[in-house]
Formats: sequence, C-alpha cells, structure tokens
Amino acid sequence: MPYRAVKGMSDILPEQAWRWQRLESVFRQVAGLYGFQEIRSPIVEPTDLFVRSIGEQTDVVEKEMYTFVRHDESLALRPEGTAGVARAYVEHALHTKEPISRLYYLGPMFRAERPQRGRYRQFHQAGCEVYGDPGPVVDAEVIALVMDFFGRLGLPPVTLRINSLGGSETRERYRAALLSYFTPVASKLSEHAQARLGANPLRILDSKDPRDQEVAAGAPSVLDLLTESDRAHYQGLLGALDALGLSYSVDPRLVRGLDYYNRTLFEINLPSSELGAQNAVAGGGRYDSMVHELGGPNVPAIGFALGIERVLLSLPDVPQPPSAFCYICPLGAEPIRMALGWARELRARNVRAEIDGRGASLKSQLRRANALGARWAVVLGDAELETGQATVKDLSAHTQRNVPFDALLGELCTASRTLAESETLS
Ligand code: HAM
Repeated sequence: MPYRAVKGMSDILPEQAWRWQRLESVFRQVAGLYGFQEIRSPIVEPTDLFVRSIGEQTDVVEKEMYTFVRHDESLALRPEGTAGVARAYVEHALHTKEPISRLYYLGPMFRAERPQRGRYRQFHQAGCEVYGDPGPVVDAEVIALVMDFFGRLGLPPVTLRINSLGGSETRERYRAALLSYFTPVASKLSEHAQARLGANPLRILDSKDPRDQEVAAGAPSVLDLLTESDRAHYQGLLGALDALGLSYSVDPRLVRGLDYYNRTLFEINLPSSELGAQNAVAGGGRYDSMVHELGGPNVPAIGFALGIERVLLSLPDVPQPPSAFCYICPLGAEPIRMALGWARELRARNVRAEIDGRGASLKSQLRRANALGARWAVVLGDAELETGQATVKDLSAHTQRNVPFDALLGELCTASRTLAESETLS
C-alpha cells in the first residue's frame, strides 16, 4: 500500500503553488502598505499557551489540538497564530522597543476537525495583529486591510459582520443575562450546550446544533448591555467603518469560537460560493487582556486571520500565465558545452533559460520546447557551429532567424524584456 498524505492534510503541487505565491505576495504587499512587518513564530508551542489564551471550553482546545509529550513537556501544533505571536511579543518585550507593533504572519495551522471542502486538519492562515493601540480607529483599519486585500486579489463580493462583546463588565452582565435566559429552557438545548451552560453560556450562541440555534434566536443582545465606555468604543468603530466607506451588518449573535475576544468582533463570509457551510473566509477581533494574561504588560491588541485555502477555493481557477523563456536545443557534445554557458549567462541577466541536455533529436527537443511553452527555441548544431550563427525560432510567431553568436544573448535579453513590458502594459 503506497503512502498517502495524512487525512485532512494536502500537498500543494506546482500547478497550484503559483496561486499560493500570488496570494502571499499580494498579502505581504497590502500588509506592508498598512505598515505591518512580518513575524515568524514556531509551529509548536507549549500546550498550555493555547489552553490559557484560547480557552479551556472551546472546541479548538477541547477536541481539535494535536498535542504530544516530549521530554516531559506537553507541546501542541499551533491551531491558530494569535497565541504564538502574543507569546513572542511578551517574550521579546516588544512593547519596550515601540509603543505600537503591527505584525503579520503566514503559515500552516493544525486542527483535528472533520475534514470537508474548505475545512482541513492542516490549513494555512494569513493574519495581522496590532499591539498597543486601544482603538477603535485601528479596529476599522484592520478590517479595511482585509477588505483591500480581498479586493486586490479579485475575490467575489464578501459580507462583513460586526459585533461588540464589550469589556469584562459587559461580559459579566451578558453572561448573567444569558444564564437567566437559557436556564429555564435548558432542557430544550443539546446535551453539549447544557453541559457548557454554567461555565460559558456565550458558546451556545455559536452552536451549530439546530436545537440550540432555535433557543438562541430569542436570546438577549449583548449590544443592549454595553457599558458606557464599551458603547463609545463600539460607536467609534462604526463611525470609522462609515468613514472608510465599508459596508457591514451588525450581528449581535456573533461570538466566534475562541474565548479571548472582547469589544470588537468581526467575521467575513463569502455567501454565494462553493464553500457551503465553510464560507467564513476571515475573522478576528480585539483581545485586550491576552498579553497581560501571558505575563506581559497591560497592552491592548486586535487582529484577524484569513483562511488561505478558502480564499483560493473562491477565486476563479485560471491557468498560470506563461512566462517567456528560451529553450536551448544543442545537437552534440560541443554544442551542449556552449549551450551550458549561454543558459547560465541568460539567467545571470534575469532571462529564464532551459537547456535540453538529453542528447535527443532536434524534433524531440522542439517538441519539448513547445510542450513547456517556451517562446524561443535556440538551435545549435553542426551547421550553426560552421556559420557562427544560431537558429532562433520564435515558437509563437512560427518564424526563424539566424543570429550571430556574439549578438545572440543581447538579442534574447532585449526580446524577453520587450515582451515582459508589453505583457505588463496589457
Ligand atoms: P478563526 O476564525 O478560528 O480565527 O480562523 C480564521 C480563519 O481561518 C477562518 O475564517 C477560516 O477561513 C480559516 N480556518 C479556520 N479553521 C480552518 C480549517 N480547519 N480549515 C480551513 N480553514 C480554516 C483565528 O484563528 C484567530 N486567531 C483570528 C484572530 C487573529 N483573531 C485575532 N487575531
């Protein structure tokens, strides 16, 4: 039985990898325009870091973490990026180096979920985190960043949902309100929701179980319970979103699956896509107490992450645009020696060049040049050696010319540059 990739984890083959590279480069570009710098944190962290920050009673911590013990230490593959970045922020005391840190990251995350289209066990996120700015203006800017990124990438229209969970006082009020709402109707809830009711009634709002959803539909709204300062923050966020011209809907039932959030919360969905139930392409919010809880100073934070696979599934599957390149077809030992030097020189001048060193017939070499999509085939055989002129075939125009050896590389460089420029303009 041949080996297969682990269930829920995928190979990214070259025909797809270029789409990943494009997405990553657009993400880096947009994050850079907003003043974010890259941070790379390890894929493995102490299990306890995730338990403390994400919350013991979340699906992620309860049942989705890949955890293992090494040298008496319990470690976990990161299920998300925020906790590790916050850990790094505290460990390196970044607050002493700059009052506000704007960090972005890209990389694999791991959750032992039931795999389906758009939901994997190894998946990839691109995310941003801001430390040291209490908002609400920056909250709106972080949201604008994701929207700009989706726009630049060409994602179909998305919907943006906003909520505010308030700070600890609001949360306490809301918890109490939910408890008194759910407790008398507890028997109508799923067993799982009943078990969570006392510890974390907010989670019930997030449940996918139809029994819970029916009861939760009438639950009180957190927005009616915001304290004065939480309300001011929330209004400030809406004002900044309006100033940015972003359209959104307010969803007071939005809670999300991680426990660290307070105040601003948002999720971005692609409603009319093939993603079905997995149509959340990005989500995030404020998590003002995490840095302090991880042993750092009292520094507020906000961020988001987007699911790269889900975004790619939602983009049209266009073939990779061809890049103009030269395929050098040498016929014989001496031509191969000369072609090796030419190919290397072309690459040094930033022209993609490939050489056919198989010693195959011209017909076979030209077949390969065409199959690879080369723009020019440079033929070098006995006749060319004799005249000191290479045969340059333009495989797209179906023309050919003889070019003296000493002019060859210069001409190929110019032709390839002209073509690249005309492609950029079109
Ligand atoms: P999250 O909502 O758990 O938030 O994940 C963010 C995005 O990752 C989701 O919207 C989805 O697109 C993608 N995603 C999550 N799980 C999977 C999966 N199993 N397969 C494929 N894609 C998936 C976070 O992770 C937070 N750390 C976001 C954040 C950053 N909040 C503040 N800062």
